[in-house]
Amino acid sequence: MANRNLAKDARETCVLVTGGAGFIGSHTCVELMNAGYNAVIVDDLSNSSEESIRRVREITGVDEDRLSFVKASILDREALEQVFSTYSIDAIIHFAGFKAVGESVVKPLEYYWNNIAGTLVLCDVARAHGCKNIVFSSSATVYGEPEFIPITEDCPKHTPTNPYGQTKSMLEQILSDLYVGDNEWNVVLLRYFNRIGAHESGLIGEDPHGIPNNLVPYVAQVAVGKLAAVGVFGDDYPTPDGTGVRDYIHVVDLARGHVAALRWMAGLVGTGKPIGLGSMAGEPAEDGTRRGVGIFNLGTGCGSSVLDVIAAYGRACGHDIPYQIKPRRAGDIAENYAACDKARDELGWVAEYDLDRMCADSWRWQSNNPNGYRD
Ligand code: UFG
Repeated sequence: MANRNLAKDARETCVLVTGGAGFIGSHTCVELMNAGYNAVIVDDLSNSSEESIRRVREITGVDEDRLSFVKASILDREALEQVFSTYSIDAIIHFAGFKAVGESVVKPLEYYWNNIAGTLVLCDVARAHGCKNIVFSSSATVYGEPEFIPITEDCPKHTPTNPYGQTKSMLEQILSDLYVGDNEWNVVLLRYFNRIGAHESGLIGEDPHGIPNNLVPYVAQVAVGKLAAVGVFGDDYPTPDGTGVRDYIHVVDLARGHVAALRWMAGLVGTGKPIGLGSMAGEPAEDGTRRGVGIFNLGTGCGSSVLDVIAAYGRACGHDIPYQIKPRRAGDIAENYAACDKARDELGWVAEYDLDRMCADSWRWQSNNPNGYRD
């Protein structure tokens, strides 16, 4: 079936958001609603809560017609068939997937099955219903130990050190191959750097189960008194203060990058030059909508160290955050941050919020919801 062209008007566009109840998904739904889109969330709630969807509706003032929810796994072909038959889906933003780096090492089968097979089922059903427009949630992890910094999209990919990262890298390849085999596909791969922060309302945010693996959720739980001190994994890296440097990006900025990607697909922004997979990709179709594979880093272009983050969070919550220097964590790199020129030039998108704002918004969420969505 021919691909459905994206309408120029957001109000005529229905977006399927897989994993839309999760951290980045829920923030993206807020921005989609603000931009006038209609959306259907498909989420199995295995690592998220329906409460986040209720709060997205509260923040944006939309009803269940504008933002619908179907509880289903992307592995459930029948459920997806039902979704595509019920709604006229124009584009997919695909977040659903397992994402814990350490867990992926001990549960590779679960990670490959859920993330890879789930995406294959999703694309197969979508294709049968004439929807070949997909924005995929990729990661800076595909660069591995980066060959140069700041990292441009041309930086060679390296084999990720864990199955989670492998699934991101493999899915980039799979989605690119869909376009090679069928030029009607329209694929955007968004490589996220370290997303933190929360919506300024304090109503939605990151809600990790158990002890957090990532720095800012850990710092947040120390700030609120649930954990005693932050372990700083290594202070002997070749960085200004010896601790690891990352490109932290506000989740709201990241969410807006997805809206920009949809607009780019619809031919509403961008230079119109071929992009992505060399000259064979990204030529606008007759009506201006794009076909091809667009690859974009979403970061701020600024590197911050672990100690910078701890200090910024201390300013946000009004007291010092206790920390202890620990050995390096296996698999960590010293430094990464993005070059974001391509997203600026093509998507017309730049990150707006700085580290202090990210921490202030994270703190508002954490202090208002010390137990996440579970209260
Ligand atoms: N860190 C600590 N203490 C902690 C947790 C982290 O010092 O308790 C340090 C890490 O060593 C690293 C920095 O804080 O230097 C950031 O670590 P995170 O775990 O928050 O994030 P990573 O950069 O390791 O990984 C994140 C996502 C991955 C994604 C990657 C992309 O978790 O999913 O960014 O670059 F693949």
